[in-house]
Amino acid sequence: MNEIKIGIATQNDIPAIADIEKACFSTPWSENAILESMNATTTFYAAYQNDVVAGYMGVSKIAGEGYVTNVAVLPPYRRNGIGKALLEYVIADCKDTLEFISLEVRVSNAPAIALYERAGFKEVGLRKRFYTHPDEDALIMTKTFL
Ligand SMILES: CC(C)(COP(=O)(O)OP(=O)(O)OC[C@H]1O[C@@H](n2cnc3c(N)ncnc32)[C@H](O)[C@@H]1OP(=O)(O)O)[C@@H](O)C(=O)NCCC(=O)NCCS
Repeated sequence: MNEIKIGIATQNDIPAIADIEKACFSTPWSENAILESMNATTTFYAAYQNDVVAGYMGVSKIAGEGYVTNVAVLPPYRRNGIGKALLEYVIADCKDTLEFISLEVRVSNAPAIALYERAGFKEVGLRKRFYTHPDEDALIMTKTFL
């Protein structure tokens, strides 16, 4: 059965989130970094498929503003609607308490940019050489809640 369940991640999910980071990024967050972030301002949302944490999204919430720390889905689980379901859940969870959610994305990351555009994020700017490994500019994309 392939039902996707989304919920707020707990400390028990941190090893799985760190594994997703390692599978998806050149400079992955460690378990400690995730724990510190969870204990500070970041809400981690997890997508479970058949009880496996297949994807996650972090949103740091400060003074009514939301900043996405990361979004990632394990490679074998991609193109299955999990990223879209995570964004929809996060938007529904944040739209009454945040003014906006903003994020950075590599300018070459067409899958993620398409995902964000479909969820209603708009390009609002560019950060030159924001990323390393490899060096690359970031698009800034924001979804505003009126
Ligand atoms: C970006 C990412 C989270 C998308 O997750 P996903 O679960 O595969 O996305 P979904 O299946 O929900 O796709 C939703 C929409 O996003 C877009 N999309 C997703 N993957 C795409 C791809 N490879 N190419 C083009 N569009 C894509 C499509 O519009 C898609 O809708 P469709 O399937 O109806 O065409 C995933 O590819 C990933 O983890 N990438 C590596 C980590 C990363 O780059 N994160 C973003 C950091 S800013």
